[in-house]
Amino acid sequence: MGRKRIGILTSGGDCPGLNAVLRGASRAAEKLGWELIGFKDGFEGLLPPGDHVLLDRSATAGIMHLGGTILGTVNKGHFVARVGAGGQVVIPPEIIAGARQTFKSLGLHAIIVIGGNGSLGTALQLHEEGFPVVGVPKTIDNDLEATARTFGFDSAVACVADALDRLHTTATSHKRVMVLEVMGRHAGWIALHGGLAGGADVILIPEIPFEFEKIAEEVMRRDREGAKSTMIVVAEGASPKDGRQQRHQTASGEHRLGGIAEIVGREVGERTGKEVRTCVLGHLQRGGAPTTLDRILGTRFGVKAIQLIRDEKFGSMVSYQNYLTLDVPISHAVHKLRRVSPNCQMVETARAVDISFGN
Ligand code: F6P
Repeated sequence: MGRKRIGILTSGGDCPGLNAVLRGASRAAEKLGWELIGFKDGFEGLLPPGDHVLLDRSATAGIMHLGGTILGTVNKGHFVARVGAGGQVVIPPEIIAGARQTFKSLGLHAIIVIGGNGSLGTALQLHEEGFPVVGVPKTIDNDLEATARTFGFDSAVACVADALDRLHTTATSHKRVMVLEVMGRHAGWIALHGGLAGGADVILIPEIPFEFEKIAEEVMRRDREGAKSTMIVVAEGASPKDGRQQRHQTASGEHRLGGIAEIVGREVGERTGKEVRTCVLGHLQRGGAPTTLDRILGTRFGVKAIQLIRDEKFGSMVSYQNYLTLDVPISHAVHKLRRVSPNCQMVETARAVDISFGN
């Protein structure tokens, strides 16, 4: 096989493990005698003339443990997949033409897109427009259909567990109720796993609507049993039964979730008379070094992406199933979110160790 040049980009919200993917892909490409170039700032780097850097061994040495992405990323930009009439992803034709120009002028053989739901939707459309594309699933939310795991999730969960450990000591000293709001968008994976790992007493997730009264009862029950604190983890997308998600619209028209911890804190405080404090963990969950698991998963995903290109499996995405890196069509991953099933084994396990879901 001749010397091929492959492009790679990181798109959407960053997450720990992205650099491990870049490093893994770079080394696997090198083994095949190929060259890997990284486009800067997500798909924006594909705009002519193509803002890129060479990702050879020296450029990717010593980056695996770094959070974020050395290539930069954007959530918005010229390629943002707009949702058209039929729920279709639509990138403006002139932007696609520009990407095609870059692709040709740089003599690319294929492009690897590392992204979440939205970015993989963009990747899918590029593929449908004739670009040889391979996807790598990325998100701390772990909410992508067609893969059992995304890298970044474990690091976010570790951050939640660490926050709970810290909040627990202060909550116990003051005999308080502590409410910790975590990320995850419309899926409760981070709250569920982080809450379980950090010894939470109550976990509130979008998939199980909660009742304030039930949470208050749990706090009082614990109080009667002599517990010195109650730790509540609430996912940013969780909502009360008959209530709605807390979201606000930004100046650019974007909807952002957030604010539910404050409401849970207030309602529980009023019902129990206990002192309550709230904490919003925010982007701490996305920053910092990846866990060992995410470094390994990222490396495996990067290597697999190169193998998919070698095998000419364009339009496919790396997928993690039963401890193996496999592949699935990108289309299987982007049209539906993978959410927590209220009766799944993890929820059952959590209930078995006395965790309440406020329902
Ligand atoms: O999808 C990842 C995520 O971190 C969500 O959990 C969160 O709601 C969102 O991105 C935050 O996005 P931004 O960085 O644009 O504020």
